[in-house]
Amino acid sequence: MKIGVIGTGTIASAVVRGIAPDGHVITISERSTGRAKILNETFENVSIAANQAVLDRSDVILIGTTGTQADAALTPLTFRSSHIVISLMGDMPLSHVAKLVAPADAQATMIPFPVIATGGSPVLVCPPSPVVTALVGARNMVVDVDDPSQMSPFLAAQATLSPALTLVATATDWLTKRTGDADLAEAFLTTLVANSMKAAPLADTLTALDTPGGYNQRLRVRLEAAYALLLEGLDELEQT
Ligand SMILES: NC(=O)c1ccc[n+]([C@@H]2O[C@H](COP(=O)([O-])OP(=O)(O)OC[C@H]3O[C@@H](n4cnc5c(N)ncnc54)[C@H](OP(=O)(O)O)[C@@H]3O)[C@@H](O)[C@H]2O)c1
Repeated sequence: MKIGVIGTGTIASAVVRGIAPDGHVITISERSTGRAKILNETFENVSIAANQAVLDRSDVILIGTTGTQADAALTPLTFRSSHIVISLMGDMPLSHVAKLVAPADAQATMIPFPVIATGGSPVLVCPPSPVVTALVGARNMVVDVDDPSQMSPFLAAQATLSPALTLVATATDWLTKRTGDADLAEAFLTTLVANSMKAAPLADTLTALDTPGGYNQRLRVRLEAAYALLLEGLDELEQT
């Protein structure tokens, strides 16, 4: 595919890294000079151009600005009706993107996560899009969201990632202070947690870890208040 990227920030760069090995012809905004230069030097099929030239050279356009930047970035540009636009913006409704990119087809909002750079990311797509599936489906888990109202709970729930990683990072620091080996502490805990999460359904693994009086059961009960706070936080995020 001929893919253009307007706004080569954190998430768009990760997407480019994830799809560039498939040999697409990719043109990225000259803005974000540092990031764009690294992508251009890393992949021979990634080139840099001014925003309008990005559109003129491409058939599928990824919008990677933030919602607050999008109006200023997109309004001066001329889209054509054959452009297929995929928005990466979690903070702008697709209906508004459609107005900014008319007469192009604003086909879907796609919410990937930074791990898409290496593959294995869940990718929320609303509404389902064959172009997104073709682009990232082979290496990632495409989650088709038919009903736009379901995006809010998914977007809230994905925020569990930072607290979950902070939990492991905090325990890693704790272990490092006792053993003096930070690399080993992180490898030990990330291997334990990541592999255990994938090995079996969560409910089965939790049951297996619930030996009365065992280390896992005692710490889980000790943190009971945190799970209630997590649910309150998810409820709050869903409303925003
Ligand atoms: N970060 C994530 O993990 C993630 C995941 C899923 C979805 N999202 C969504 O993706 C969107 C972008 O987030 P982000 O974290 O990637 O933000 P970001 O790193 O700030 O990226 C925004 C990019 O847009 C560029 N930009 C702004 N105005 C532009 C213009 N007129 N022309 C060309 N480029 C322009 C910025 O360039 P400068 O640096 O030069 O200002 C920056 O590189 C947000 O809506 C967010 O909700 C983010």
